[in-house]
Amino acid sequence: MKLTLNEKVVSLSQPILSAKGIRKAFGGLCALGGVDIEVSPRMMTMLIGPNGSGKTTFLNVVSGFYKPDGGNILFEGKEITGMPPERISKMGLVRTFQVPSPFQKLSVLENLLIAGDRNPGESFLWAPLRRAWINREREIYETAMRNLELLNLSHLKDEPAGTLSGGQLKLLEVGRALMTGAKMIMMDEPASGLNPTLAHKVFEHLEKVKKEAGLTFLIIEHRLDIALQYVDYVYAMANGTVISRGKGEEVMSDPRVIEGYLGSAE
Ligand SMILES: Nc1ncnc2c1ncn2[C@@H]1O[C@H](COP(=O)(O)OP(=O)(O)OP(=O)(O)O)[C@@H](O)[C@H]1O
Ligand SMILES: [Mg+2]
Repeated sequence: MKLTLNEKVVSLSQPILSAKGIRKAFGGLCALGGVDIEVSPRMMTMLIGPNGSGKTTFLNVVSGFYKPDGGNILFEGKEITGMPPERISKMGLVRTFQVPSPFQKLSVLENLLIAGDRNPGESFLWAPLRRAWINREREIYETAMRNLELLNLSHLKDEPAGTLSGGQLKLLEVGRALMTGAKMIMMDEPASGLNPTLAHKVFEHLEKVKKEAGLTFLIIEHRLDIALQYVDYVYAMANGTVISRGKGEEVMSDPRVIEGYLGSAE
């Protein structure tokens, strides 16, 4: 198609993340055998598949923790293939880890403030300009308070992070990611270890962050019964390849997906 559409329409239809032909082997084991995955902006995309199908490896490659053996990755149209994780997260593509690791003894609010002030060099440069520095501190504080509100954590802002429940810790991790200026957040099994009620709460808040703050999510999840109702698009993997993609119902009724799961059952 030629450029007859206006720029806004074109940019809305562009994926925020585009991974093509991603390959990764560990010794003789092919963990990713040419994976193509695109993520649309302001959507929640889910990656499913049986144990060992390559989901976490894919996240590790996209977030820069593993270098791919082949393929390329674009984030907002910019090449990020093989970049170190810190550079990728500074560009706004942020991964939260399966086990959130906030500073246990610091309060919930302090944990967000620290994440927002992650660039000490910048603070140092601001210091001689006192007013600008104060404005910057105030801006971080206000952003933190807004993010706590968004995640329903405001009432816990003065509690030590170590006292939060599993579900609240996952939300705190999202809050910290938001403080770093994340545009897209990747999570590996956010519902794991949570009872169904809490797991739904976590997904409800992710959906709220998506809708109200315009964030994009790429989520790996095994708890399909819970996650499917919140996701916009699904990729199913098996043996290091994508075997199906589409809306949740389409993918779940795809015989290749059903076989992929049954085939891996012990
Ligand atoms: N660092 C590593 N070194 C060697 N092999 C690895 C490494 N990381 C992953 N693998 C292998 O790559 C394959 C894909 O693993 P991966 O962790 O990506 O699967 P997964 O889909 O996330 O599985 P699960 O649902 O169990 O988390 C597996 O066979 C795994 O043993
Ligand atoms: Mg995994």
